Amino acid sequence: MEPTTQQPTLVLGGTGKTGRRIVQRLQAAGRPVRVGTPSATPPFDWTDEATWPAALDGVGSVYVTYYPDLAVPGAAEAVGTFADLAVARGVRRLVLLSGRGEEGARRGEQALQQSGADWTIVRSAFMAQNFDESFFLEPVRAGEVAFPADQDLAEPFIDADDIADVAVAALTGDGHVGQLYEVTGPRLLTWADAVAEIAAAAGRPIRYVPVSLEEYAALLTENQVPAEVVKMLTEMFAEVLDGRNAHLGDGVQRALGRPPRDFADFVRDAAATGIWSDPAAAA
Ligand SMILES: NC(=O)c1ccc[n+]([C@@H]2O[C@H](COP(=O)([O-])OP(=O)(O)OC[C@H]3O[C@@H](n4cnc5c(N)ncnc54)[C@H](OP(=O)(O)O)[C@@H]3O)[C@@H](O)[C@H]2O)c1
Repeated sequence: MEPTTQQPTLVLGGTGKTGRRIVQRLQAAGRPVRVGTPSATPPFDWTDEATWPAALDGVGSVYVTYYPDLAVPGAAEAVGTFADLAVARGVRRLVLLSGRGEEGARRGEQALQQSGADWTIVRSAFMAQNFDESFFLEPVRAGEVAFPADQDLAEPFIDADDIADVAVAALTGDGHVGQLYEVTGPRLLTWADAVAEIAAAAGRPIRYVPVSLEEYAALLTENQVPAEVVKMLTEMFAEVLDGRNAHLGDGVQRALGRPPRDFADFVRDAAATGIWSDPAAAA
């Protein structure tokens, strides 16, 4: 059964990197949208199941993005419980943002698939927007990015705009039910390559420094990152930064009939906003 165009789409994480772009696209298409975050009205909080029924009221489809990460312990169970509730309340279509190479994310996908909803899974590579909207922004601005990925480890960074296009197609279009789209950029780059492209576009030196997991954890702790977040990040990166994701996926092409954006396009557009300018030079 198709969700009707009058029923709102609930966009979980609707202020985040992918959710915000999905909200913009649905609104531009004249579709009713409900943002699902703890500060929205009605609120949606993954840690408070009591908020879920009101957020789902009257909804036809949901973009499901878990917070903080689908790979963390308890995420699969929460996604399964949420998906079952959504189906019980008449929601037909669920589109899940997942991650590549993570056992916890795989279990989250299965929990959603078992709900009986019309599901689509968008299994994403590492997002380019981690460099301008997330945890790599401050290191880039400071001129040094330290990360526990070896000098020669490659990743096909994906543009969040492509993820949003795929998710919106799956939420609103035909032919995406039961599809698992592995979405990546069109090119494998090392973290050093990525940082070098950003440095060239920003017009200033930015170093990439591969560090051990222990050194990375120590750096995060030094920067006042809470201990439980340090544990979560180091466990996640210990699992996936071993070469298992060093290959391209065809999800963008299959879902949209066009190739994904290149990292160079992301870098050009982000640099043009001035986001990576040297804060000291601007002062
Ligand atoms: N980053 C990557 O490279 C990558 C790659 C593959 C998969 N993923 C997956 O992406 C997901 C994160 O999605 P994203 O990157 O689009 O989001 P994001 O940019 O990390 O934004 C997080 C969103 O979650 C909301 N939020 C915060 N606390 C919440 C809570 N307790 N309950 C419900 N929502 C809450 C935030 O709302 P406020 O604005 O109100 O705080 C915000 O809208 C994770 O599940 C991860 O597995 C990420």
